[in-house]
Amino acid sequence: MEKKPNLIKKANGQSMSTFIFFFLICFIVLLLHFFDFGGAKSGVSSLFISYYHSQDDVPARSCVLNVTDESSNVDPCSGRYIYVHNLPQRFNDDLLKNCRAIAKWNDVCWFVSNSGLGPKVEDPRGILSNGSWYSTYQFFLEPIFRARMKQYRCLTNDSSLASAIYVPFYAGLDVGRHLWGYNVSVRDALAHELAQWVSARPEWKRMWGRDHFVVGGRISWDYRRNIDNDSEWGNNFMNLPESKNMTLLSIESTLWTNEFAIPYPTYFHPSTILEVSQWQERMRNQNRKYLFSFVGAPRPKSKESIRSNLVEQCSQASNSSSTDTCFLLACRSGKNNKCNDPCEIIRVFQNSVFCLQPPGDSHTRRSTFDSILAGCIPVFFHPGSAYVQYLWYFPSNYTKYSVYIPEEDVRSRRVNIGHRLMSISSIEVEAMREEVIGMIPRIVYANPRNDGLPEFEDAFDVAIKGVLGRIEAIRRRISQGEDPSVGFSDWDSRKFDLPSVV
Ligand SMILES: *[C@@H]1O[C@H](CO)[C@@H](O)[C@H](O)[C@H]1NC(C)=O
Ligand SMILES: *[C@@H]1O[C@H](CO)[C@@H](O)[C@H](O)[C@H]1NC(C)=O
Ligand SMILES: *[C@@H]1O[C@H](CO)[C@@H](O)[C@H](O)[C@H]1NC(C)=O
Ligand SMILES: *[C@@H]1O[C@H](CO)[C@@H](O)[C@H](O)[C@H]1NC(C)=O
Ligand SMILES: *[C@@H]1O[C@H](CO)[C@@H](O)[C@H](O)[C@H]1NC(C)=O
Ligand SMILES: *[C@@H]1O[C@H](CO)[C@@H](O)[C@H](O)[C@H]1NC(C)=O
Ligand SMILES: *[C@@H]1O[C@H](CO)[C@@H](O)[C@H](O)[C@H]1NC(C)=O
Ligand SMILES: *[C@@H]1O[C@H](CO)[C@@H](O)[C@H](O)[C@H]1NC(C)=O
Repeated sequence: MEKKPNLIKKANGQSMSTFIFFFLICFIVLLLHFFDFGGAKSGVSSLFISYYHSQDDVPARSCVLNVTDESSNVDPCSGRYIYVHNLPQRFNDDLLKNCRAIAKWNDVCWFVSNSGLGPKVEDPRGILSNGSWYSTYQFFLEPIFRARMKQYRCLTNDSSLASAIYVPFYAGLDVGRHLWGYNVSVRDALAHELAQWVSARPEWKRMWGRDHFVVGGRISWDYRRNIDNDSEWGNNFMNLPESKNMTLLSIESTLWTNEFAIPYPTYFHPSTILEVSQWQERMRNQNRKYLFSFVGAPRPKSKESIRSNLVEQCSQASNSSSTDTCFLLACRSGKNNKCNDPCEIIRVFQNSVFCLQPPGDSHTRRSTFDSILAGCIPVFFHPGSAYVQYLWYFPSNYTKYSVYIPEEDVRSRRVNIGHRLMSISSIEVEAMREEVIGMIPRIVYANPRNDGLPEFEDAFDVAIKGVLGRIEAIRRRISQGEDPSVGFSDWDSRKFDLPSVV
């Protein structure tokens, strides 16, 4: 964990005091030169002279020059300035205000409070640490990210200084309103307006949008409709010519190369190192009574889904052993759904060594981040669930922090999950868990409402680093006369291949 000083204040303070210090020294040295000629050197002034000369043997005139040279190199925001487009409210705030329309199946207005973190969790049983836990809705990354951006240290109102331009469009809240029962022209309308608005700004032409980025709180698939047929899924936001020149950060990427996955927001939103390290320490010392667990619901309508196999293996494992080997928290719709209760979910994961993270409606799950938070080693069944997604966040050698069991092996009943997990030595388990616990600060979104900046590098900071790096690389290519469109937003059929670790 890296402690982040407040760079701007510190650097300004430092260069100012350095400047005053050098100025005083120069002044004194000039005085001493004057007295030298007069032959009137006091004891005090020779002290100054020896101090000055032992520090640096520089003629007095170059002092000021050197100081200005130094301070111009020291701008801590150089290469990191971000300009935020001031969008009309219909592209963001209004969507949140009309929260009743955001999701067809549940009322998400409850989650809007606290800058989109949701209400504080009530935890009478003390399962979570004190403070900083919220009932966060899994698709509310957009307002959370924007609130974190308001605290970013290197914001600028001068777009010509900016290395990147953030377009705070709530793309997921927009399409979420219309995913069920609306024709394609309704679904596409606001995204089209956004594309027109942003490409008409003077900032656009500088790099034709290649320094612009958008954050999507739903999976990217929702913005990737190819055919204008009402029976097709989603809107076509990411297929617009303007979007092909921008970068999208979202909770799950598709095979397109201008999409980068960043973590789902989970329940823990700390802002101090102490909060993080206390939680990490607690997860290290947990007594984990289940070998593995699964929190989720089967997908009976999907022939492809392995979830019913997992449910079956979980109950078999529990029956076959004297100790509780697998714990199943079955999610049901309705009021008594424990899967909506952060305490219940974290309690199960805290008590488990391994957590099964199969694909659901899509490859990824918010549950992956919940299990990391609880120090539970994730078990993946598809590379698209994590390994090819959160490249800025997870170790590239996936065996360090997770177990991979190919979906086909489950479907064809070639693998007994309990036996497979039991065969992993306790030394390996310890090492993996330590890796998982070490990932916690970088996968949480720090509380944006707290005064001052978070003291550690959180998921927002990692995303900003990643996107600035990508844009910088493109800028370099343009300056070398290369065509920036090559490879920028291509369909990469190999993006979801299992990465190699040997
Ligand atoms: C001041 O600048 C000069 C010329 O750039 C350089 O030779 C000298 O080493 C610098 N001195 C300090 C203290 O940085
Ligand atoms: C940008 O301008 C707005 C409105 O004038 C002001 O509130 C804000 O503090 C400025 N931000 C920066 C980083 O200068
Ligand atoms: C789509 O739906 C809207 C609102 O229901 C309607 O006004 C519009 O005519 C429809 N468009 C098409 C092409 O059917
Ligand atoms: C739209 O999709 C449906 C179902 O796939 C199909 O039956 C229909 O012909 C399509 N309509 C058009 C205009 O392509
Ligand atoms: C996208 O960028 C290319 C240059 O790489 C430019 O020719 C094209 O007009 C841009 N598209 C839009 C919609 O601005
Ligand atoms: C949480 O509460 C305990 C006891 O009340 C206290 O010792 C600890 O410092 C608190 N942790 C944080 C992060 O505030
Ligand atoms: C496990 O045991 C319970 C009761 O002990 C039983 O109802 C259930 O059918 C068993 N499950 C399997 C998969 O054998
Ligand atoms: C990947 O991690 C595993 C477990 O730590 C290790 O045994 C293996 O050597 C690593 N592979 C590479 C290429 O570093």
